[in-house]
Amino acid sequence: MHKDIEKILFSEQDIKEKVEELGRQISGDYKNKNPILISILKGGVVFLADIIRALDIPIEIEFMGVASYGNSTKSSGVVQITKDCNIDISDRHVLIIEDIVDTGLSLNYITRYLQGKNPKSLKMCVLLDKVGAHEPDIGMAYKAFDVPNEFIVGYGLDYDEKYRNLPYIGILKKEIYQ
Ligand code: IMP
Ligand code: MG
Repeated sequence: MHKDIEKILFSEQDIKEKVEELGRQISGDYKNKNPILISILKGGVVFLADIIRALDIPIEIEFMGVASYGNSTKSSGVVQITKDCNIDISDRHVLIIEDIVDTGLSLNYITRYLQGKNPKSLKMCVLLDKVGAHEPDIGMAYKAFDVPNEFIVGYGLDYDEKYRNLPYIGILKKEIYQ
Protein backbone atom coordinates (compact mmCIF):
# COMPACT_ATOMS: atom_id res chain seq x y z
CA MET A 1 0.00 0.00 0.00
CA HIS A 2 1.19 3.57 -0.79
CA LYS A 3 2.58 5.34 2.31
CA ASP A 4 0.12 8.27 1.99
CA ILE A 5 -2.93 6.02 2.13
CA GLU A 6 -4.75 5.62 5.42
CA LYS A 7 -6.91 2.70 4.38
CA ILE A 8 -7.83 0.80 1.23
CA LEU A 9 -11.61 0.86 0.74
CA PHE A 10 -11.87 -1.14 -2.49
CA SER A 11 -9.20 -3.41 -3.93
CA GLU A 12 -8.45 -3.94 -7.61
CA GLN A 13 -10.48 -7.15 -7.43
CA ASP A 14 -13.48 -5.44 -5.72
CA ILE A 15 -13.50 -2.83 -8.48
CA LYS A 16 -13.16 -5.39 -11.25
CA GLU A 17 -16.15 -7.39 -10.01
CA LYS A 18 -18.31 -4.28 -9.59
CA VAL A 19 -17.40 -2.94 -13.03
CA GLU A 20 -18.34 -6.26 -14.63
CA GLU A 21 -21.70 -6.22 -12.80
CA LEU A 22 -22.42 -2.63 -13.91
CA GLY A 23 -21.31 -3.54 -17.45
CA ARG A 24 -23.86 -6.35 -17.62
CA GLN A 25 -26.63 -4.03 -16.38
CA ILE A 26 -25.76 -1.21 -18.78
CA SER A 27 -25.41 -3.61 -21.74
CA GLY A 28 -28.91 -4.89 -21.02
CA ASP A 29 -30.46 -1.47 -20.48
CA TYR A 30 -28.88 0.13 -23.56
CA LYS A 31 -29.24 -2.70 -26.05
CA ASN A 32 -29.94 -1.26 -29.54
CA LYS A 33 -29.62 2.30 -28.17
CA ASN A 34 -26.04 3.07 -29.26
CA PRO A 35 -25.43 5.29 -26.21
CA ILE A 36 -22.80 8.02 -25.89
CA LEU A 37 -20.80 7.66 -22.68
CA ILE A 38 -19.50 11.05 -21.59
CA SER A 39 -16.65 10.86 -19.13
CA ILE A 40 -15.90 13.83 -16.92
CA LEU A 41 -12.19 14.69 -16.96
CA LYS A 42 -9.97 13.82 -15.42
CA GLY A 43 -11.19 11.64 -12.59
CA GLY A 44 -13.68 9.67 -14.67
CA VAL A 45 -11.28 8.35 -17.30
CA VAL A 46 -10.04 5.23 -15.51
CA PHE A 47 -13.61 4.19 -14.73
CA LEU A 48 -14.64 4.89 -18.35
CA ALA A 49 -11.76 2.84 -19.73
CA ASP A 50 -12.80 -0.16 -17.66
CA ILE A 51 -16.57 0.20 -18.00
CA ILE A 52 -16.53 0.34 -21.82
CA ARG A 53 -14.58 -2.91 -21.94
CA ALA A 54 -17.29 -4.50 -19.79
CA LEU A 55 -19.96 -3.59 -22.38
CA ASP A 56 -20.91 -5.87 -25.24
CA ILE A 57 -23.06 -3.35 -27.14
CA PRO A 58 -22.10 -0.62 -29.64
CA ILE A 59 -21.25 2.63 -27.85
CA GLU A 60 -19.52 5.95 -28.46
CA ILE A 61 -17.38 7.89 -26.02
CA GLU A 62 -16.87 11.59 -25.40
CA PHE A 63 -15.18 13.74 -22.77
CA MET A 64 -16.11 16.87 -20.89
CA GLY A 65 -13.92 18.87 -18.57
CA VAL A 66 -15.30 20.55 -15.49
CA ALA A 67 -13.36 22.30 -12.77
CA SER A 68 -14.60 23.03 -9.29
CA TYR A 69 -11.74 22.05 -7.05
CA GLY A 70 -8.27 23.45 -7.72
CA ASN A 71 -5.74 21.93 -5.36
CA SER A 72 -7.96 22.05 -2.29
CA THR A 73 -9.99 19.21 -0.86
CA LYS A 74 -13.14 21.32 -0.55
CA SER A 75 -15.44 22.25 -3.41
CA SER A 76 -15.08 25.90 -4.43
CA GLY A 77 -18.80 25.89 -5.23
CA VAL A 78 -18.01 27.37 -8.63
CA VAL A 79 -18.29 25.00 -11.56
CA GLN A 80 -16.62 25.87 -14.83
CA ILE A 81 -16.54 24.00 -18.16
CA THR A 82 -12.92 23.56 -19.22
CA LYS A 83 -13.66 21.24 -22.16
CA ASP A 84 -17.02 21.18 -23.86
CA CYS A 85 -18.76 18.17 -25.37
CA ASN A 86 -17.95 18.38 -29.08
CA ILE A 87 -20.42 15.93 -30.56
CA ASP A 88 -24.10 16.37 -31.28
CA ILE A 89 -26.01 14.58 -28.54
CA SER A 90 -29.50 15.69 -29.58
CA ASP A 91 -31.88 12.73 -29.80
CA ARG A 92 -29.15 10.39 -28.47
CA HIS A 93 -29.01 8.29 -25.31
CA VAL A 94 -26.35 9.77 -23.05
CA LEU A 95 -24.73 8.24 -19.99
CA ILE A 96 -22.46 10.45 -17.89
CA ILE A 97 -19.48 8.62 -16.36
CA GLU A 98 -18.26 10.42 -13.23
CA ASP A 99 -15.74 9.54 -10.55
CA ILE A 100 -17.37 10.80 -7.38
CA VAL A 101 -20.34 12.79 -6.13
CA ASP A 102 -19.41 14.95 -3.16
CA THR A 103 -21.59 18.07 -2.84
CA GLY A 104 -23.32 17.15 -6.11
CA LEU A 105 -22.67 20.62 -7.57
CA SER A 106 -20.65 19.37 -10.54
CA LEU A 107 -23.10 16.68 -11.64
CA ASN A 108 -26.00 19.02 -11.14
CA TYR A 109 -24.39 21.58 -13.38
CA ILE A 110 -23.34 19.08 -16.05
CA THR A 111 -26.77 17.46 -16.10
CA ARG A 112 -28.56 20.76 -16.59
CA TYR A 113 -26.04 21.79 -19.25
CA LEU A 114 -26.37 18.56 -21.25
CA GLN A 115 -30.14 18.47 -20.86
CA GLY A 116 -30.15 21.77 -22.76
CA LYS A 117 -28.74 19.91 -25.77
CA ASN A 118 -31.90 17.75 -25.97
CA PRO A 119 -30.62 14.20 -25.59
CA LYS A 120 -33.15 11.38 -25.95
CA SER A 121 -32.21 10.26 -22.44
CA LEU A 122 -29.64 11.38 -19.88
CA LYS A 123 -28.49 9.23 -17.00
CA MET A 124 -25.53 9.04 -14.64
CA CYS A 125 -23.13 6.28 -13.82
CA VAL A 126 -21.06 7.17 -10.78
CA LEU A 127 -18.09 5.31 -9.33
CA LEU A 128 -18.30 6.69 -5.78
CA ASP A 129 -21.07 8.26 -3.75
CA LYS A 130 -20.03 10.30 -0.70
CA VAL A 131 -23.06 9.48 1.35
CA GLY A 132 -24.29 12.35 3.48
CA ALA A 133 -22.33 15.01 1.59
CA HIS A 134 -25.17 15.91 -0.79
CA GLU A 135 -28.95 15.81 -1.07
CA PRO A 136 -30.12 12.20 -1.23
CA ASP A 137 -32.13 12.50 -4.43
CA ILE A 138 -29.42 13.26 -6.98
CA GLY A 139 -30.67 10.52 -9.32
CA MET A 140 -27.76 8.19 -10.04
CA ALA A 141 -28.98 5.42 -12.33
CA TYR A 142 -25.80 3.39 -11.75
CA LYS A 143 -23.42 3.52 -8.83
CA ALA A 144 -20.46 1.33 -7.95
CA PHE A 145 -19.76 2.10 -4.28
CA ASP A 146 -20.69 4.27 -1.32
CA VAL A 147 -17.77 5.94 0.47
CA PRO A 148 -17.48 7.75 3.79
CA ASN A 149 -17.16 11.54 3.93
CA GLU A 150 -13.34 11.48 3.72
CA PHE A 151 -10.90 12.49 0.99
CA ILE A 152 -10.64 9.59 -1.45
CA VAL A 153 -7.92 8.92 -4.02
CA GLY A 154 -6.89 6.26 -6.53
CA TYR A 155 -8.43 4.66 -9.64
CA GLY A 156 -8.59 8.07 -11.37
CA LEU A 157 -9.21 10.24 -8.31
CA ASP A 158 -6.48 12.67 -7.33
CA TYR A 159 -5.25 15.02 -4.68
CA ASP A 160 -3.26 17.83 -6.32
CA GLU A 161 -2.99 15.65 -9.49
CA LYS A 162 -1.36 12.76 -7.64
CA TYR A 163 -2.53 9.21 -6.84
CA ARG A 164 -4.71 8.80 -9.98
CA ASN A 165 -2.66 5.77 -10.98
CA LEU A 166 -3.24 3.76 -7.81
CA PRO A 167 -5.11 0.60 -8.89
CA TYR A 168 -7.25 0.63 -5.72
CA ILE A 169 -9.49 3.21 -4.02
CA GLY A 170 -8.44 4.48 -0.62
CA ILE A 171 -8.65 7.21 2.01
CA LEU A 172 -5.83 9.77 1.84
CA LYS A 173 -4.02 10.43 5.13
CA LYS A 174 -5.17 13.75 6.57
CA GLU A 175 -1.57 14.88 7.23
CA ILE A 176 -1.07 15.07 3.45
CA TYR A 177 -3.58 17.89 2.98
CA GLN A 178 -3.93 19.46 6.41
P1 IMP B 1 -18.89 17.92 -6.15
O1 IMP B 1 -19.21 18.95 -7.19
O2 IMP B 1 -18.71 18.51 -4.79
O3 IMP B 1 -19.86 16.76 -6.15
O4 IMP B 1 -17.47 17.40 -6.48
C1 IMP B 1 -17.27 16.58 -7.52
C2 IMP B 1 -15.86 16.59 -8.03
O5 IMP B 1 -14.89 16.94 -7.04
C3 IMP B 1 -15.54 15.18 -8.42
O6 IMP B 1 -15.84 14.99 -9.77
C4 IMP B 1 -14.07 15.06 -8.11
O7 IMP B 1 -13.32 15.43 -9.23
C5 IMP B 1 -13.83 16.02 -6.99
N1 IMP B 1 -13.86 15.33 -5.67
C6 IMP B 1 -14.83 15.38 -4.73
N2 IMP B 1 -14.54 14.63 -3.66
C7 IMP B 1 -13.34 14.07 -3.94
C8 IMP B 1 -12.50 13.14 -3.21
O8 IMP B 1 -12.78 12.67 -2.10
N3 IMP B 1 -11.35 12.80 -3.84
C9 IMP B 1 -10.98 13.27 -5.06
N4 IMP B 1 -11.73 14.12 -5.77
C10 IMP B 1 -12.90 14.52 -5.21
MG1 MG C 1 -14.45 15.00 -11.29
